[in-house]
Amino acid sequence: MLDKKRCSTLKKRVEHLFFKVILSGFFLPFLLFSKKSLRSFFGGQLKRPATLPFYISKSYLCAFNFIKKEIMSAEIFAIVNQFKSEIENATPSTKEEVEQFRIRFVGSKNVLKPLFGEIRNVENERKKEYGQLVNAVKDAAEAKFQALKNASESAEEEVSSQDLDLSAPPEPMSLGAHHPITITMNRIVDIFSRIGFNVAEEREIEDDWHNFTAMNTPADHPARDMQDTFYLKNSTEMLLRTHTSSVQSRVMMSQAPPIRIIAPGRVYRNETISARAHCQFHQVEGLYIDENVSFAEMKQTLLYFAQEMYGPDTKIRMRPSYFPFTEPSAEVDVTCFICDTKGCNVCKYTGWVEIMGCGMVDPAVLKNCGIDTEKYTGFAFGMGIERQAMMLYSINDIRLLFENDVRFLKQFTSAI
Ligand code: PHE
Repeated sequence: MLDKKRCSTLKKRVEHLFFKVILSGFFLPFLLFSKKSLRSFFGGQLKRPATLPFYISKSYLCAFNFIKKEIMSAEIFAIVNQFKSEIENATPSTKEEVEQFRIRFVGSKNVLKPLFGEIRNVENERKKEYGQLVNAVKDAAEAKFQALKNASESAEEEVSSQDLDLSAPPEPMSLGAHHPITITMNRIVDIFSRIGFNVAEEREIEDDWHNFTAMNTPADHPARDMQDTFYLKNSTEMLLRTHTSSVQSRVMMSQAPPIRIIAPGRVYRNETISARAHCQFHQVEGLYIDENVSFAEMKQTLLYFAQEMYGPDTKIRMRPSYFPFTEPSAEVDVTCFICDTKGCNVCKYTGWVEIMGCGMVDPAVLKNCGIDTEKYTGFAFGMGIERQAMMLYSINDIRLLFENDVRFLKQFTSAI
């Protein structure tokens, strides 16, 4: 590692020091006259007084060590300085070269690490200087590596932005699909929007009053049995709504007639889950309140809906029924759109399919919600979405609608 120039200067220094040693080694014992002072010179290390030749040889050894240290420290300094200039002059350009620089000067087994231990071979007066030098070289290596790294990263970014071809055709994006419930619900809402019904949405966690009592179903009413639901923990007041009729009471309480709303949403009932029934499902509820609203208007509105939804030739029929919140009440059937009334397993060979319940709003409900029953009348209807979606898309198990199996959902991509 030593070059020629440094070799010759070192040689000179060794010769010079050797001369010093001969002289000092020989004269030292004579200069320190007494054995006593010699003993104290050697730091009281000697247990018992020694002879003069011992002191002379000891002096030589001491001087020799002194030279050795001086030569060694010169050598160590030279190595550090060589690394220093190597670091300063390094110009790694490729990624591999930068990595090599890192391994050599910054990595866990870098060449600078052993230099810290070499401090014990440096003569005492130069220890401080040496420590500072080695630390400075280490810092310089780290700083240089950081700068090289940053430069190569930004260069990489530049390259990748140059690679970007804005005119290239895009990667094909896989299209998602609407859920069959959403498709069916949107179709229903669209049809009613066209004849002036506005969408109203309300909370799924309802209180007993809006869901039952206001809808003319007080606590002791037997109709509650058909709509058992889930109550919030430690509460007989708060429940998951059993029908979207709760939206009726909320809207009537907050708006003055005329009211013409369509309320889509999720509802819950304490039902055993099977292929035909689920504890959660969806409904669309309609409510129209104004002066002189008649049963005939309701019939015509629902016929319009049925023909828009299931085809222009669809007919409807109304069967008398019972709901606590409507009087009179009816179930609405449409002619089977699958078999065109010829008979199939969807209509159970009757030619008719039940799609909703409806009726004239019971004056008790209007009164509960603060609407003048002398002035206003209205009709309401409510339908389940799942059954209609299942019929439209020939789905034979209601549970498929809630499992979120992508193999099932993917089949509706073209139905949006
Ligand atoms: N809320 C009723 C149900 O869930 C449906 C309905 C709504 C009937 C409005 C008549 C009027 O079964």
